[in-house]
Amino acid sequence: MPVEATETEVVVTHPSNGNTAVKILNYGATAYSWTIEGKEQLWLSAAAKLDGSKPVRGGIPLVFPVFGKNTDDEYLSKLPQHGVARNSTWEFLGQVKENPPTVQFGLGPELANEELTSLWPFDYTLVLTIELGKEHLKTDIEVVNTSTAEALKFNWLFHTYLKIDDIEDTMVSNLAEFKVYDQVLKQTYIDNQPVVSVHEELDRVYQKVSENRVIQVVDKGEPIHTLKRKNLPDVVVWNPWVDKSKSMADFEPKSDYEKMICIEPGHVHDFIVLKPGEKWSGSQLLSKDSLKYQVV
Ligand code: BG6
Repeated sequence: MPVEATETEVVVTHPSNGNTAVKILNYGATAYSWTIEGKEQLWLSAAAKLDGSKPVRGGIPLVFPVFGKNTDDEYLSKLPQHGVARNSTWEFLGQVKENPPTVQFGLGPELANEELTSLWPFDYTLVLTIELGKEHLKTDIEVVNTSTAEALKFNWLFHTYLKIDDIEDTMVSNLAEFKVYDQVLKQTYIDNQPVVSVHEELDRVYQKVSENRVIQVVDKGEPIHTLKRKNLPDVVVWNPWVDKSKSMADFEPKSDYEKMICIEPGHVHDFIVLKPGEKWSGSQLLSKDSLKYQVV
């Protein structure tokens, strides 16, 4: 069976290979495992909670309607870091395509975490579409403002935790020349380095990265992950390194900051504002590709 749904999760298997699969928890609609011919592509903490007691530490948590902690919006500022979507149980809407197998999940205020919805009382529908290819995983989000009277103001981000072999041998390409807000240094600057390499805690929001930039995670010269985006202009690169990993109870083993890097495409530098009835969508495509240096 290419799609198996239980009470708590959905497993999609590719018809060409029983070991190419994606597992999605209804909680947060979080894809927490993606394998290509048995090889895991996403990082998941050994201490991640998969029981809905907190957002999943790993996989692809969904960030909506606010990235980080907002301090100035009347309603968004009441929400916890990264918002409502990753703290809510989504509805499995079913399989929408046979091959590549594609499934959908939905969320709206009637289903979402009640406490958070009372703090941020807006009308919306989210539809997440997940397509599993032989060598790719596409996640597409559509947001509709279902209110007849009020605007809907939000951020969106796919908080993608990628599995890597060793952070010291890893670099991230094709982000040079863009403006960065560095959340560790609390500074804005243009990143002129040809590639991003990580030697300490790194938490950067690259802004308005042209859509034609293909972001690659390169391990000793070999591209191991390729990420393409539609309508997601900002890219967060995050690795917690030693001290921050220690401070996160659900980050285990503590040495695993060496085995992961988050590359998070989103729309977070500013807010998307939809008028009543309007729609917005964005997507992330994770795949395998040859090395493409677009800037050196
Ligand atoms: C990243 C942020 O997107 O998420 C970091 O840029 C943050 O600042 C990280 O630490 C993890 O956030 P959380 O809420 O899952 O611990």
